[in-house]
Amino acid sequence: MRHYSVSELLSKDIAFPEVEVKGWVRTFRANRFIALNDGSTLNNIQCVVDFENFDEALLKRVTTGAAIHITGELVESQGKGQKVEIQVKTLEVLGDSDPEEYPIQPKKHSFEFLRENAHLRTRTNTFSAVMRLRSALSYAVHKYFNEHGFYYMHAPIITGSDAEGAGEMFKVTSLDVNNLPKNGSDKVDYSKDFFGKETNLTVSGQLEAETYAMSLGKVYTFGPTFRAENSNTSRHLAEFWMIEPEVAFMDLAGNMDLAEDFLKFVIKYVLDNNRDDLEFLDKRQQDEDKKKPQAERSDMTLIEKLKFITDNHFKRVSYTEAIDILRNSKPNKKKKFKYIVNDWGCDLQSEHERFLVEKHFKCPVIIFDYPANIKAFYMRLNDDGKTVRAMDILFPGIGEIVGGAQREERLEVLKQKMAALNIPEDELWWYLDLRKYGTAIHSGFGLGFERLVMFVTGMCNIRDVIPFPRTPQNAEF
Ligand code: 4AD
Ligand code: MG
Repeated sequence: MRHYSVSELLSKDIAFPEVEVKGWVRTFRANRFIALNDGSTLNNIQCVVDFENFDEALLKRVTTGAAIHITGELVESQGKGQKVEIQVKTLEVLGDSDPEEYPIQPKKHSFEFLRENAHLRTRTNTFSAVMRLRSALSYAVHKYFNEHGFYYMHAPIITGSDAEGAGEMFKVTSLDVNNLPKNGSDKVDYSKDFFGKETNLTVSGQLEAETYAMSLGKVYTFGPTFRAENSNTSRHLAEFWMIEPEVAFMDLAGNMDLAEDFLKFVIKYVLDNNRDDLEFLDKRQQDEDKKKPQAERSDMTLIEKLKFITDNHFKRVSYTEAIDILRNSKPNKKKKFKYIVNDWGCDLQSEHERFLVEKHFKCPVIIFDYPANIKAFYMRLNDDGKTVRAMDILFPGIGEIVGGAQREERLEVLKQKMAALNIPEDELWWYLDLRKYGTAIHSGFGLGFERLVMFVTGMCNIRDVIPFPRTPQNAEF
């Protein structure tokens, strides 16, 4: 007898005399119909029990959440909505689940409640769909870069530098192994660090990726990054995953082309390969939408939104042009934007970004050539002396999804920029070496993976697209 996943069984349309399946009970109806799910697919397989043939005490243990093992015959289903079902021959309860205590009842739970039960929330349709999509997107990321000649580089998690120069780092502290007490009475000097210098968890793998781009040509990183920014929003995590390609001999225009092509590819990948989960989340979102007042409802379904991305050009506009548009716009009929009108050089706020993407252009927007003073030290200074070759990609409903730049490849200019920001040269001597030995123009960007998963799944809170979210005052699991 062969063991099948529920997904394999549901894709069969012929009868099989003997099959075997294991999973968790979603519901057990009328002492007869078990809806069984094993995570392989959104759908449950119906397992039909002839209760006369089974011990009553055993059937009592078939409760929501219990793990069971079933053997039986795969037959054409009499019920609606499924082609096949299992006529149960043997039934074994592998792990009981007390129905009085099990938190995931067969009903709609709030996302807040499920966040408190993050260890069990993937037993619901919504979270299993989200996490299968997260997995598929991650595969698509590797597939894209592999098919385009990139090498996957593992950037270090513990670093001695602040890649973004924003000072939002988690410090790494440790016991110095060379300084352990010898006879138990000596005090340990905890302040002396393991590495002999201050270190932190990485905020970005970019600087290290640049070193590899300047030898392997085309590389990307895809790993966890950490930011101690105290922003409790629906778009920020203290630990998030970032994808950072870096390419030698590529300028800012090439960087924009790469980012656009890459985003379209990964979104098309899930449209082509994860239809069930997307359709489920799409329907869910439409149901939620119906509860909202007309003005707040979205004008596209989730799948339409994804197709819109793959089928349309992203609008490219300079920061200066964007400011002009904002200056001349009235977001709410009468009033203009409060500031921005006078202030070339200030950063765009999320209300500005939303206006540009959702009201003005009504498509994804790439803003480039930002003022140097609001961007990181490593960005290539333009000839005007006041803007840098930066680019941010803004998505509807998400805001900034990608941040990138052409890098400053000129040693002297880079040194001047670092000096102006009090970044010591001896901290980044290796980074400066790249500009000493065979420097060349190069560019790259960072895509916040969770923001991509939010966009693709339609989830509104970033805490709901990562298994165990880390946010201020929250690291329960
Ligand atoms: O714009 P950021 O800070 O850029 C960098 O880190 C560059 N070193 C990337 C590069 O050029 N290689 O971050 C890049 C992206 C943002 O656009 C956003 O999508 C995401 O990372 N991001 C966050 N996502 C979740 N939580 C946070 N706290 C995030 N901070 C940035
Ligand atoms: Mg940014």
